[in-house]
Amino acid sequence: METVLLKVNPDCIQSGILLPAAASLQSGDLVAFPTETVYGLGASYRNEPALRRIFETKGRPGDNPLIVHIWNPNQLDELVLEIDPKFEKLIAAFWPGPLTLVFPKQATVSPLVTAGLTTVAVRMPSHPVARELLRLTAIPVAAPSANLSGKPSPTRGEHVMADFNGKIPWIIDAGPCNAGIESTVLMLDAGKPLILRPGSVTREMLEEVLQETVAVSNGEAQRPSAPGMKYRHYAPKAPVVLVEGPKEAIVRKINELLQEDRLQKKVVVIGSAENLTKYHTKLVLDLGSEQNLELAAMRLYDLLRACDELGADQILIEGVDQKGIGAALTNRLHKASGGNVIDVS
Ligand code: TXA
Ligand code: MG
Repeated sequence: METVLLKVNPDCIQSGILLPAAASLQSGDLVAFPTETVYGLGASYRNEPALRRIFETKGRPGDNPLIVHIWNPNQLDELVLEIDPKFEKLIAAFWPGPLTLVFPKQATVSPLVTAGLTTVAVRMPSHPVARELLRLTAIPVAAPSANLSGKPSPTRGEHVMADFNGKIPWIIDAGPCNAGIESTVLMLDAGKPLILRPGSVTREMLEEVLQETVAVSNGEAQRPSAPGMKYRHYAPKAPVVLVEGPKEAIVRKINELLQEDRLQKKVVVIGSAENLTKYHTKLVLDLGSEQNLELAAMRLYDLLRACDELGADQILIEGVDQKGIGAALTNRLHKASGGNVIDVS
């Protein structure tokens, strides 16, 4: 199959440029498109063959449900049975934006979208290209991240090309994604807000709007409410070791590990800007300042993919502070390391 790579300037979308891709979505083709979090691999949520193709193309397990993307809250009517007043508050505060809400679903929503659950996850992205594509398509679009299952999510058009060139008809490239990690996923558990996947809408931000405590699910131990979280995710080819604790102790430990491994293996370090020159190797990738974890979130997946390109045999990563977006970043770092974490505190 020939893939059309369509470059679109998000600050100035040429009129009509997205029409053919929207028509393809309507007729059951897959279209990869940018969002403010990561690129998505979209299909009409009503088209079952297209939904099946999402799972085949990604190599995604069938029990991992998809998020449905809308551009206008009116589209919720065809997807969900009811909107809890707490969700109404969150929609007013955070949509469009990187917050996915889990609603009781309408009977007409295919079990291929929801992996047979009685709920459906919906989000309204803020990226101008995503919004325009969704507006033109008019049908809500089911879309997981546009990466082969298990690989780091794509935050640039090049990442999508690397995984899907020749396998899907359309890739819309609007440059790098701003947030860089996937949306926060939130459900109500017996009426109480529960974060199933942390993201850039932080627990603190949610608590401020809801004026109540928001719990965070501890992943693996959770019931099938966040099925996607149980798989090894976000992982580059080389094994990742995550080192957590006070910054000085992290640097000491990473240098120790480098000492052991450097001669036999190609070891790449991912560290904060403040510490780059402290490592006893030239193979250091810059996650940005410790004071700016938003930037680290934006860069993380690109750096993990860069490790593959450098031919790394081993990756050592500095842990980050847990506050705010740091919680989401830590969640992805733990996943990327497959639980291979050294705590030096
Ligand atoms: O930022 C994002 O959310 C990106 C962009 C493309 O929008 N999408 C994304 O999709 O990350 P995906 O498929 O990689 O992750 C979807 C997550 C999974 O953890 C899945 O288990 C969860 O959402 N999910 C989907 N439907 C659910 C449901 N009904 N109940 C609970 N969790 C659900
Ligand atoms: Mg994903």
